[in-house]
Amino acid sequence: MTPEEFRAAGHQLIDWISDYRSSLDQMPVRAQIEPGDIRKSLPPTPPDQPIEFEDMLNQLEQRVLPGVTQVQHPMHFGWFPSNASLASVLGDIASSGLGTLGISWESCPALTEVEQVVCDWMRQLTGLSEQWEGTIHDTASTACLTALLIAREKASNFAQNRGGLQAEPKAYRVYATREAHSSITKSALLAGFGMDNLQFVDVDPVNQSMSLAALASCIRQDLTEGHIPTAIIASVGSTGVTAFDPLGPITELARQHGIWVHVDAAMAGSAMLLPECRSLWDGVEDADSISWNPHKWMGTILDCSLFYVKDPDLLIQVMSTNPSYLRSSVDSEVTQYRDWGIPLGRRFRALKLWFHLSLDGPEAIRMRLRRDIGNAQWFAAEVENTRDWKVLTPVNLQTVCIRHEPVGMDADALDQHTLNWVDAINQSGLAFMSPSQLNGRWMVRVSIGVESTTREHVKALWTMIKEQVALSLQE
Ligand SMILES: Cc1ncc(COP(=O)(O)O)c(C=O)c1O
Repeated sequence: MTPEEFRAAGHQLIDWISDYRSSLDQMPVRAQIEPGDIRKSLPPTPPDQPIEFEDMLNQLEQRVLPGVTQVQHPMHFGWFPSNASLASVLGDIASSGLGTLGISWESCPALTEVEQVVCDWMRQLTGLSEQWEGTIHDTASTACLTALLIAREKASNFAQNRGGLQAEPKAYRVYATREAHSSITKSALLAGFGMDNLQFVDVDPVNQSMSLAALASCIRQDLTEGHIPTAIIASVGSTGVTAFDPLGPITELARQHGIWVHVDAAMAGSAMLLPECRSLWDGVEDADSISWNPHKWMGTILDCSLFYVKDPDLLIQVMSTNPSYLRSSVDSEVTQYRDWGIPLGRRFRALKLWFHLSLDGPEAIRMRLRRDIGNAQWFAAEVENTRDWKVLTPVNLQTVCIRHEPVGMDADALDQHTLNWVDAINQSGLAFMSPSQLNGRWMVRVSIGVESTTREHVKALWTMIKEQVALSLQE
């Protein structure tokens, strides 16, 4: 494709995206297809002749679009918001168009330096002090794995330069709660700690946040048994119920024992743009690493996960590679982001964050986040004030965990009832929510925060839920 052909096709594609975005509320939220349908609709063998761009767009519309669950739909209340602001989409397109290669500062100086600047802008916007330096990873999963790799090497005095963890006589321990995201377990396993050394710390039964007494007890016992407490993953806004582990006391305890604290604020980091929410991560300054995803609630299109550390030298000691073909005469003066994480080649991810912040502006983003918090409070109050309905956990931000509990239903029947009504709504395509378990029992998470979701949509959802529950009880 020549640049001129690209120009013509690109205009068509942008028009198509604009039409799609302005009409997606007419589509079902959840993809209305069966497993295998999309695959079957595509030819089993690769094309042998090029096709016209119009044909390509038709195929996108007819074969791909039906298989898209519309997470940008205003009636999407599932998982966590995965907003993709159009300003950030433009930045992503610019990144693709530039076709840069981020393998060293020299391979694209702008890639490194724009990333340094936008990470620092985000640091300022979330009220973090100047002691933090940031980079952008693809996901919070990668950021957590990176944090655990550094914690492991720090605690073991760089066992990687000897026989690695395999040769260590003592066990290295990681602490998190069962409310922590599944990526925490995955990271601990990938970093070689082993399931036996991932200690699940008890939570406060009311707000599901890490119990400090339980954490202290786990650490004490591990020390008595000769293990090495290595890292605590503190959830700042857990996935299930948006619980907040008490960071201040956790970091204080960690300091006494030299334990690394990684703050997983994948979702709730966005809230830190709001000064009134920052008390939720009091103590963050004493942590060792932080990750959070502008690609969730804040709305910089996936993939954009911020990772901050105070001591990049540690990252470099663990991750650095310096093959001759990547060296240049300015190496001593510049940041080499390849040494701050796992991949060598990086995309120019900073552009989407730069475009988003510059074109939409932080104030508009803050107003939207406040709107969503207000909508969650409104919805929670409606649920609380309706007979047989419960809000199960504190509404700290924008997630409301609810259950309809008719009198006289036993626990198993209640589980079935919950799954019945939420499945019926999800299958209808009119709205989407995530059923999830709390203390082993089903409930429904209503996660408010899609860019286009207004109070009217939340009201419509509440009406729909009550009608569906009434119907389910009749069946
Ligand atoms: C609290 C929390 N941590 C980590 C993650 C993983 O995020 P990612 O998909 O960026 O790896 C999620 C995803 O929803 C999350 O909610």
